[in-house]
This record gives sequence, structure tokens and C-alpha cells, in this order.
Amino acid sequence: MKILDHPDPASGAHTPGSAMSYAGLIEKIEILRSMLRWATHLERADIEKLQRQVSVLRDEVLQLSHKERFLQAAVSSGIGSPTEIASRSDATPRSRRQALLDRSFVFEGTFGDNPRLLEALEIAEKAAPTNLPVLIDGESGTGKELMAKVIHANGSRTDRPFVSVNCGAIPDNLLESELFGHKKGAFTGAANDRKGKFESAHTGTIFLDEIGELPLAGQVKLLRVLESHEIQRVGSDETILVDTRIVAATNRNLRRLSEQGLFREDLFYRLGMIHVTLPPLRERQDEIPLLLAYFGDEAAEALKRRPVGLTLRLRQYLLDYAWPGNIRELRNTIYRITCLAGEVADVVHLPQDMRGPVAVASATGTSGSGQSMANASPAHSAAQQSGVSAPGAFGESKRAASDAAERAFLEHGLREVGGTVAELARRCAMNRSHLQVLLKKHGIRAKDFRVAAGAQSESRR
Ligand SMILES: Nc1ncnc2c1ncn2[C@@H]1O[C@H](COP(=O)(O)OP(=O)(O)O)[C@@H](O)[C@H]1O
Ligand SMILES: [Mg+2]
Repeated sequence: MKILDHPDPASGAHTPGSAMSYAGLIEKIEILRSMLRWATHLERADIEKLQRQVSVLRDEVLQLSHKERFLQAAVSSGIGSPTEIASRSDATPRSRRQALLDRSFVFEGTFGDNPRLLEALEIAEKAAPTNLPVLIDGESGTGKELMAKVIHANGSRTDRPFVSVNCGAIPDNLLESELFGHKKGAFTGAANDRKGKFESAHTGTIFLDEIGELPLAGQVKLLRVLESHEIQRVGSDETILVDTRIVAATNRNLRRLSEQGLFREDLFYRLGMIHVTLPPLRERQDEIPLLLAYFGDEAAEALKRRPVGLTLRLRQYLLDYAWPGNIRELRNTIYRITCLAGEVADVVHLPQDMRGPVAVASATGTSGSGQSMANASPAHSAAQQSGVSAPGAFGESKRAASDAAERAFLEHGLREVGGTVAELARRCAMNRSHLQVLLKKHGIRAKDFRVAAGAQSESRR
């Protein structure tokens, strides 16, 4: 058996008889806990068997008698004491974040004070110093990879490699070689010995993204790494010991996959020993203003320009938007509008697929202002505002819609030009005094837009 170099033998995991045996016991207890938690059907005999195993483990723990050390390991592996759990739920988001900061927690650029995000960070904090595998689930773009980096950064492996593998992006026939390496001549094209990602991540962390896509054959091999920390390169008989901490992520329901026989149940329990769920952005909308400001500054710096201002209408639209691509989509959107808009961005600067069919009206400047685009076409909103819905009132409805469109056009235009009537008249090739008449008709004051444009740029910060 080949044993890879370890930079610090004292921190080596799974050394029999060392302090890590506590971690080993906790690991076993956690497996049992998660089996009891996740199993959908358990026969009475199975429950009794699990209970017997738990009691054997409990005896072992008691025999170890280093009670304090055990408690310390238990707390750092995420179990936590009852009083701690109680105080956690009472604390305000700000104080919870502050407490993390006070404990020198490394956020790695993770923003937000949403209670569910903080809960995920608090679990990450406790999981980080252990070698237990962590499973992170959440929709695409919710920050799973970032969370994996947070776990890595807060543990003792922080200055060791962090290796990311997207299991969904590697063809099935290459996956084994990618993860475990291969020996020269193992298959056509294997011209040289090559080490795999597990060896590259030795002493560090491997991030297995889209773990739900891992074929069953790969799952068996992964289970073996989890159980014995051993790998074999493809085509080689030699066993190599690796000390690689595993963090896996998925946007699929692994439990359902395992019920369907597509994901090994034992692997699911093993990986999900510590389970972190990241909520989609639409369920933490309170984070959106902060993220808009943060990515606005980031994009401005990257593109070497001033942070883009957002019209109130765009801002409202972004706050109401469902963000199916979550934080990744928000970040990309801000980069896009910072690049495409001038000083101030509006809904028209969003990509077409974000605007939906009703938003086409806004591209020609005819949409109602200050309202969400999601359910309001100009005609629809004008009819609603005037309370006209009967088919007989068609003429009335048409006039109201036309008025609403005219008004929206003027407001949109004034916002674009920062409230300068002469400039708007020039852009629309319209007589300036005619424009003044229209503004008066709608009771619109150009100077409000001078103030508003400045304030909107500010309000984003
Ligand atoms: N809470 C957060 N604060 C700041 N940036 C975040 C946050 N969550 C995700 N991001 C950013 O969003 C993008 C997508 O995150 P990522 O971790 O790749 O998501 P996933 O792996 O779930 O698809 C990255 O640019 C990441 O830095
Ligand atoms: Mg990802």
C-alpha cells in the first residue's frame, strides 16, 4: 500500500488510538442518526438493530472517559449543546453574523443575513474543523461551491489544495480515471501514468459538484474512499491512502434518487452526515438589495467605471423577480447592465428572457412607470386604474391606456436624460413647447427627475 506524504502527521485523520477515534465514533453515531432521520420505511427489527448499535457506541464513548475532549469534538462536529441551539434561534441575524466574525469565521465573500443562510454558515463553521463529509444541496447558483470553499477555509486544511470536480460534466467512461487517476496503458489513450483529483486533493478538500450525476459504478468507488480512505488508479493494483476531505453538492433530491435506485442509499447516508441546505434567492428576497449593491460595486471595479444607478422601476423589478438562476443570475445581470447602460439602468437593459413578453412594451418606453413588469401591460394597468373593464367602455379604456403610455414615456424619457427637457425634446425630435404642454397635462415636473436621478444612484449604495 502506498501512503501519500502528509504535511503534519499530528493532524492526520483516522489514526487508530489517537484523538481522532472520538471523531470516528461521532462519525458512526452520525451515520446512525441520519439513517434514523432519512429512512422512509424502517421495520421494527431494523430499529431495534440500530438502537443496539447506538448503545454499543455509547458504551464505547463512555469507556473512552475523556469526557471533555469528547464534548469538544461533539460540538465541533455540529451537534451542539441544547443551550447553544436555543440561544442561536433567539439571536438577531446581525448578532449572529457578528458572533461569527468575533470567532474569526472566514466568510469567503458570502453575503447576507438571512436566517437560513446564517444557519448554513453556522453549520459550516462547526463542520469545518472536522473531517466529516458534508453534503450541500440547493438550486443552481445558490452558492454551493462558495459554501464548500467556506468549509475549506475555516478548517485546518485551508492552505492545502481545494479541488473542484463537476461529476455531471465528465463522460462516464472517463470519470473513474479523472477521480482516481490511471496507470500508463490502462486504456487506449492512457499514454502516461496520471494522478486523479483525489490524489491532487490529498491533505486538502475535494468538492464533488453535481454528485447526483455520478454513475453507480463511481458511487461504489466513492463509498470505498469514504470508508477506507483508499484509492486505486485505473489499471493498477496498488492501493493508495488518501487523506482528502469530501464536500459534495447537488441540486437534485438525493433521497428520491436513492428511492428510485439511482443513488446508493449507503452513500447518501455517508455523504449527508452533515447536511447544509441553501435556500433559493426567491426565499431570501431580503438579501437582494445587499447583493445588488455588492455586485454593482464589484462590476464597476471590474469594468473600470462608476457603479451604475438603477431607476426605481428597475430596482422594484429586480426585487420582485423570481431569480430562477439565483445569485449567479443576479451577479451576471448586474455585470450586464453595468456594461450596457450609461449612468442609470432601466428595465430595458435587462436581457429579453428576464423581461418576458409584457416587458417588450418597456423597450419602446410605453410601460407604466414604477410598477412591477411581471403582471402589468400598460393597457391592462390603465384599464385597472380607471376601473374600466366592461366591453362597452372600449373608447374610455383606449384613451386611458394611451394616457398611461404617454405618461410612462415621458417619465422614462426624463429619467434617461436626468430631467433636462431640452435634451428629451432633442432626443424625441419633438418641439420643446409641445413637450412642456404634455408634461403639464400629466402634472409631471421635470425637476423631480433631476433630484430622482441623483437619489436613485445613491439609493443603490
Ligand atoms: N451568499 C452569497 N454572497 C455573495 N456571493 C454569493 C453568495 N452565494 C453565491 N454567491 C456567488 O454566486 C455565484 C454562484 O455561486 P456558486 O457557489 O457557484 O453556486 P452553485 O454552486 O450553487 O451553483 C458565485 O459567483 C458566488 O460567488
Ligand atoms: Mg455550482
